[in-house]
Amino acid sequence: MSGVLTLPAPLDPHVHLRDLAWAHKGTFTSETAAALAGGYWAVLDMPNTPPPTVDPQALATKLAALTAGALCDWGVYFGASQDDNTACYPQVARQVCGLKMYNNATTGTLLLADQAAREAHFRAWPGGRVIAVHAEGQTVADILALVRLTRKHTHFCHISTAEEIALLRAAKADGLPVSVGVTPHHLFLTERDVTTLGALGRMKPELKTAADQAALWEAIADGTVDVVESDHAPHTLDEKRGDPPPSGVPGLETTLPLLLTAVREGRLSLERMIALVTTNPRRIFGLQAPPETYTEIDLDASYVISREGLHTACGWSPFEGMRVWGRVRRVIIRGQTAFADGRVCVSPGFGHNLFAEGI
Ligand code: NCD
Ligand code: ZN
Ligand code: ZN
Repeated sequence: MSGVLTLPAPLDPHVHLRDLAWAHKGTFTSETAAALAGGYWAVLDMPNTPPPTVDPQALATKLAALTAGALCDWGVYFGASQDDNTACYPQVARQVCGLKMYNNATTGTLLLADQAAREAHFRAWPGGRVIAVHAEGQTVADILALVRLTRKHTHFCHISTAEEIALLRAAKADGLPVSVGVTPHHLFLTERDVTTLGALGRMKPELKTAADQAALWEAIADGTVDVVESDHAPHTLDEKRGDPPPSGVPGLETTLPLLLTAVREGRLSLERMIALVTTNPRRIFGLQAPPETYTEIDLDASYVISREGLHTACGWSPFEGMRVWGRVRRVIIRGQTAFADGRVCVSPGFGHNLFAEGI
């Protein structure tokens, strides 16, 4: 494998761009710059950053700020709230990429622990737009029961264990409408790396064993896994030095090079890799690639991941020190060069909302 690879419109369907009350961690402009530097056409932003995207007012605030600040194309999730916010679902669903439900504790205040409340959210969300879930361990089985009941398309985010993979493989064999995402940190790091990474290796779900990691790679090969999603979740180095440190790691700028390195090493086929970051995420969210939208990657460029040159405002990566093959050269969006040779070439506001009302 050598030369220049052209990837059609890569989409990362799971990022936390921050901004708003957490602008000190990153802004819509800084983190969409990271998306372009990572080779992405578009990103889908999660609702847990304060103020959480759980009512029409918070949604309007976020849409306005992203419209003004985004450098790449984008969509946002609406969040399921502990205070029943289902009444506004019909109104907001047309403006967002999907509903996000947090079913285990993580960053933010959106935990839904009660199965009856989860069911009410599942029933209320209009069909045709995805429900994305944070579910770990046994909670995966709890959510699968709701999928069986309601038959709504459910995307399982950042799956990280062999046990969860087995549940989802069986669910797919049963014909349930589910899709599965895994993150680059669960694919390329294990719990052993926490010894050296410390807080920089802390995220939800936590890093797992080598056996769990092997199960994820197997599930990529057999088609159980549909998507590689970064779960880009920047926190500042100062915050990571705190006690306890917040959970979450940046990932937008390292996912494609890490995956292309696995392709080069024969651990992943190029066809699968392309499906995981382009066609599958687009299909799950019902998106078409705009015309003349692609990313060029120099497959012969090799480098060691370091802090220098990162566009994310947090300025660090859990993959520092790893040698990768594949450097993003250019990102073309709707015929315009958005990123070339390390530099952003468009202004804030260039990015389109892929789920603007009426589309
Ligand atoms: C995410 C965050 O910081 O917003 N943290 C994380 O560890 N992944 C939240 C999440 O995706 O669960
Ligand atoms: Zn999560
Ligand atoms: Zn996340």
